[in-house]
Amino acid sequence: MASYVRAEIVEEVTEGGFPIQTGTLGPQAVDIQSLYARYGLLAYDPGYRSTASCKSAITFVDGDSGVLAYRGYPIEQLAQHSNFLEVAYLLMFGELPTGEQAVRFRDDVRQHNLLHEQVISFFRGFRRDAHPMAVMVAVVGALSAFYHDDLDIGDPDQRLNAAIRLVAKMPTIAAASYTYSTGRPLRYPRNEYDYAANFMQMLFGMPNQDFVLDPVQARAMDMILILHADHEQNASTSTVRMAASSGANPFACIAAGIASLWGPAHGGANEEVVKMLMEIGRPENIPKVIARAKDKSDPFRLMGFGHRLYKNVDPRAKVIQETARKVLAHLGLENDPLMAVAMELEQIALKDEYFIERKLYPNVDFYSGILLRAMGIPTKMFTAVFAVARTVGWVSQWLELHNDGTHGIDRPRQLYVGKPLRNYPVGR
Ligand code: ACO
Repeated sequence: MASYVRAEIVEEVTEGGFPIQTGTLGPQAVDIQSLYARYGLLAYDPGYRSTASCKSAITFVDGDSGVLAYRGYPIEQLAQHSNFLEVAYLLMFGELPTGEQAVRFRDDVRQHNLLHEQVISFFRGFRRDAHPMAVMVAVVGALSAFYHDDLDIGDPDQRLNAAIRLVAKMPTIAAASYTYSTGRPLRYPRNEYDYAANFMQMLFGMPNQDFVLDPVQARAMDMILILHADHEQNASTSTVRMAASSGANPFACIAAGIASLWGPAHGGANEEVVKMLMEIGRPENIPKVIARAKDKSDPFRLMGFGHRLYKNVDPRAKVIQETARKVLAHLGLENDPLMAVAMELEQIALKDEYFIERKLYPNVDFYSGILLRAMGIPTKMFTAVFAVARTVGWVSQWLELHNDGTHGIDRPRQLYVGKPLRNYPVGR
């Protein structure tokens, strides 16, 4: 019976009974939305390896060729020629801004970068040693309580306003979660700086002296934010979209995205990379770590290696490695031992059959941790920096979902493998 049904479906697919959807780039998709209604069958795809969950015009990834593009522009070109706020505009609105649009957008972001003073009081409720991501999940979710009643997500202007508020406030929240952990007073945003530089001054500025901006590090931060701004339907973005599909408040949706990003298989990986490199300590210890990564009885994985989509070099990894080299040289850290271990590890892994066969290459996180660490960002803030960048992607995807009026609530099905129906044992 099952094979008969499968043959019929194959016939339907080949004869066009299930429409083939064709995008601008990338693989075509079999539109199986009517599969259950027609055959009473579900598609089983845990982890969504073969499932397009939506149509999107924002970001394109071709993992086999190592291509990443925002709205059609290759990431390498954006990293070289653009700046984070311009990229944010591009992701949110679909085109690069004119000079006038760029100024208006920058001013809108500046206007909203402060936190309500009552939001600031939340920070004092956390333990000083709380992980910044734990604080960010809570504080961003709490913004719902401040901007809920007057928010009509059916109104495009109000949606845009919420999106800009999130982009504007995220560096302030991330920096505050750090300064709180160090016992320093929270720093207010300063509008004479651009977005990345402002984030730096909020992270590192001291109340008793003027902040001295290092333009090389500020540019590196801008680059880090550009590289992490969006990455199509990854775990955290899909989380945001799923939360949003029920019509949830945007601040709550982004808090859900932050929670998903925190995991070590996703945004938490660069933190794990640095821990791993520090544990390795010296190049002589690398073979032991490679052996562990290959041992199937050991859950250890080489952090910063492998990617669900990239079966080639992650294009962001190349840019970030180059930036890391420049910043280390600028700071007189050319002989950074962590960088030496990372480069040696990369070389050894790339020549190893295990990694070649499985197409495991360094991903963006492999060098980003080294760069962030050189810039004085503490390890536990790495994922928070990622969250600041990715907020732009999340809100762009959130706006896209709401602008596409056809998308109803997300409701995946399951293959039930539990007990069959049985009677409750009355009087047991
Ligand atoms: N070290 C050792 N082996 C690995 C690694 C790794 N880092 N990554 C994958 N493999 C192996 C798997 O064990 C598996 O081997 P098998 O076929 O013998 O069973 C094979 O490669 C395929 O792995 P999957 O888990 O199926 O790959 P998937 O696409 O599901 O996972 C992931 C991708 C989660 C990123 C994985 O490569 C990983 O855990 N990497 C380390 C964590 C990391 O760096 N995450 C950051 C991702 S980038 C980002 O989120 C911005």
